[in-house]
Amino acid sequence: MNPTRESDDGWWPVATVEQLKPAQTLARTLFGVPLVLFRTAQGAPAALPDRCPHRSAPLSQGRVRDGEVECPYHGWRFDSMGRCTRVPGVQPACVSGPLLPAANVREQGGLIWVSRAGPLPAVEPTGPQTGPNPLDVFFITDTARCSLAEAAENFLDAFHTHFVHAGWIRNDHERQKIRAKVEALPDGIQACYTEEGQQSGWIARLFEKERGWSYGRFRMPGLAEIEYRDKQGRINLLISAWLTPSQDGHIHIHARIASRRDWLPRFLKEIILRRVFRVILNQDKRILELTTVNVERFKAAGVSAPPAKLLHSPLDLLGPHIRSLLAGEPLPELPDAEIEVHL
Ligand code: FES
Ligand SMILES: [Fe+2]
Repeated sequence: MNPTRESDDGWWPVATVEQLKPAQTLARTLFGVPLVLFRTAQGAPAALPDRCPHRSAPLSQGRVRDGEVECPYHGWRFDSMGRCTRVPGVQPACVSGPLLPAANVREQGGLIWVSRAGPLPAVEPTGPQTGPNPLDVFFITDTARCSLAEAAENFLDAFHTHFVHAGWIRNDHERQKIRAKVEALPDGIQACYTEEGQQSGWIARLFEKERGWSYGRFRMPGLAEIEYRDKQGRINLLISAWLTPSQDGHIHIHARIASRRDWLPRFLKEIILRRVFRVILNQDKRILELTTVNVERFKAAGVSAPPAKLLHSPLDLLGPHIRSLLAGEPLPELPDAEIEVHL
């Protein structure tokens, strides 16, 4: 099966497992479609369009009663299959056929996944990379104002780190000569970086003892991953960011931060890493928003600033391929050779 293109085909994470609490509704938007999520009496996740079929009130503003969602306007209740189970005041009570098309929902790997109503997707949810050593895991979620392609490229582009994250990840005046190789995956593309010593930013100085090799990876339909391994092939740090198009040019980010289990207590590491990644994420969100707004400024002025297309440098290792994949275009023949870059 070919990987899906940037469309609402396939499974998309819309929340972490913790965010979907029992007896509470959760509003999410997937590819512009508002959804209400809730848990059934058995705890299974459910997702319906967030619009009551009676007078269109948002069900997410209602309550969850006995594992069903109750509309805040006249109290109609809907089960996980979109059937109306109660119309208050109407006797005798009966259960309707499905009035709302229930989306497919799955709870897997710490995330709640949704696919549009209808047959189940042929491809399973895209899970994170696995490694030989145990990892400590937590999630960070956020939204960013940009497209899926822009978010994935930004996340996997090592060459902005010297500027957007100067001092934190790398420094422009402390570049290293390293080797990079870009390879196609069955459902995406990855760059493998070798011969990189310790990164010049203070995060690596504090948290990483040695670097064996690393990857930047994109997998359809929307997973961007950065993976650092030591010289024995153990994962030091694995950041898996699922990028879910929500609404109006926004991306919902579910980032799984997995770090090598070591002497540092898990809770302490999580407190530190959460703060660090929040800063990094905010720096990325700022530059992405600035570029989005800048494109809109030119659009609003009705002028097209030259050049008509984006220019790529030889260091844009993954971005152009990610754009091709998301556009459903075939990848070009990739050279079976490493290139030397100053990172
Ligand atoms: S609008 Fe939902 S019950 Fe009337
Ligand atoms: Fe970044």
